[in-house]
Amino acid sequence: MTLAIETIDEMEALAQKISSQVRLSDLLLLEGPLGAGKTFFAQTLIHALGVREQVTSPTFVMVKNYRGIFPINHIDAYRLLDLSNPQQAFEELDIDIDSSLTIVEWGKQFDLTGDGLHIAIEIGEGESRTLTITGSDTRWSELVL
Ligand SMILES: Nc1ncnc2c1ncn2[C@@H]1O[C@H](COP(=O)(O)OP(=O)(O)OP(=O)(O)O)[C@@H](O)[C@H]1O
Ligand SMILES: [Mg+2]
Repeated sequence: MTLAIETIDEMEALAQKISSQVRLSDLLLLEGPLGAGKTFFAQTLIHALGVREQVTSPTFVMVKNYRGIFPINHIDAYRLLDLSNPQQAFEELDIDIDSSLTIVEWGKQFDLTGDGLHIAIEIGEGESRTLTITGSDTRWSELVL
């Protein structure tokens, strides 16, 4: 589905709404150009899951782990995309996918199970964004946005 976001507060509200519906082993894949708001969305969601510490962009470290109401991995896969085998490089990050929530920026090709929730962010004027959100029926048919 497509969603029009007008302000950063609306983006925050959406991330909070999704945070209340995710569970352990879910995978969220964030797409969109530089500055679209992928990290902002992830930060809001991670805080909403009970993480108090500062959430910073994982651009340089690639993977950050948090412990909220469950373990969370926040990944920036941008630098993997240029590699000859991004899939293998992703697997070598050795993330515990099964018992944590995993959020991947630039991650659409790493939906290994096909059950990830894909969130593509398009930049509009000012704070406006257009989000296209898609996920498999097996996992996401009951998602309320
Ligand atoms: N509606 C909005 N949603 C999210 N961020 C917004 C919005 N409006 C303005 N912004 C601003 O846009 C910037 C988004 O930066 P952010 O680091 O989240 O982007 P990103 O998609 O992660 O970029 P990168 O690809 O470099 O990691 C922030 O400075 C944020 O304050
Ligand atoms: Mg980012």
